[in-house]
Amino acid sequence: MESQSNDGEDGVKHSAIVASHYNKIEELGLAARKKSNIYFMRNFNNWIKSCVIEKYAALVKGRTPLGSPFRVLDMCCGKGGDLIKWSNSNVTHLICTDIAQVSLEQCESRFNKMYHQRKPKVEYFAADATLQQLRTKYHDPSLKLHLVSCQFAFHYSFESFKQADCMMKNAAECLDEGFYFIGTIPDANELMKRQRRAMSDTFGNDIYRIQFLCDTDNPPLFGAKYNFQLDEVVDCPEFLVHFPTLEKLALKHGLRLVEKKRFDEVFDEHRSRKQGLLETMQALETYPPSPYGRGNADDQSKKPEQYKHAEEYGRQMSTQHQFRVGTLSEQEWEAATLYLFFAFQKMKTSYDSNGRPVYS
Ligand SMILES: C[S@@+](CC[C@H](N)C(=O)[O-])C[C@H]1O[C@@H](n2cnc3c(N)ncnc32)[C@H](O)[C@@H]1O
Repeated sequence: MESQSNDGEDGVKHSAIVASHYNKIEELGLAARKKSNIYFMRNFNNWIKSCVIEKYAALVKGRTPLGSPFRVLDMCCGKGGDLIKWSNSNVTHLICTDIAQVSLEQCESRFNKMYHQRKPKVEYFAADATLQQLRTKYHDPSLKLHLVSCQFAFHYSFESFKQADCMMKNAAECLDEGFYFIGTIPDANELMKRQRRAMSDTFGNDIYRIQFLCDTDNPPLFGAKYNFQLDEVVDCPEFLVHFPTLEKLALKHGLRLVEKKRFDEVFDEHRSRKQGLLETMQALETYPPSPYGRGNADDQSKKPEQYKHAEEYGRQMSTQHQFRVGTLSEQEWEAATLYLFFAFQKMKTSYDSNGRPVYS
């Protein structure tokens, strides 16, 4: 794999830029979050994570006797956006790690304020998952994990082969046989498709903007850099993840792909069963706005042409009554559907006569 790639080793290491960026993002209160242009999209992304975490937590429980420990690594946990999900999944031992120390402190304080029926054991530490071996930082480095989750972050490792390899090793090496590594990343195919359609290395809409900083005719497997701007949340260098390369790297560490879905496909899979959660999480926007909406002056301040699809749906319903649907503005949907979900399963590991691992 190494030989066919531009390793991306020559460039500056971007981890410090990324850490400083995330450390600087302020923790906004609910009122400020509600005013955000991407309020519903963020809730939608959270809903997607809830669905996949619940699904894989159930698979873990299906493979372990009742009452067994449930140990999770939240790699690149940020401010702890998934803490409630872990608590709802009855995780008994949670390891939270991120490169951004300030985010990690916010994560810890958020956890301490949470109500828990049964409080899991939690470890926090700051580390660069693309450069450091996380296992050596666990209270017990021989720990066996049931689930490793890396949400919206694995793509930072694709700066170079070495970094991606290190992050994959961190995801794989403590997973017990038969258990899972799950994550979400931008879909490189979708990014390239949009770049081709735009016939420009810079494209996007009012919510997100991507600027390619690599050769888009022949992007390298590692170090295919672009700048990603998402409203007020992210403005960072990121790297394309060539999915077949991710799969190969995973296999090298004993992980086989069990699921890969774009966010629109994840939505289709869970939308009817998790309808209630869609509503409680406000993962979709009510159109036309409900008089009991999210209660801020900006309600549907976005332009009406952002809701043409909802209007069309209303027309097709051929009813005399005022229709109301759950939707996202076109621009938020475009940004949300840049992402995909993946799940890998740890294979059985044995060792050959040279002591090298053999996975089956
Ligand atoms: C978009 S945020 C996602 C946070 C969290 N996983 C979530 O879904 O809410 C990306 C996170 O990845 C972290 N990150 C980026 N590069 C990293 C690295 N090399 N090692 C550890 N964490 C990293 C950032 O600090 C940031 O907290």
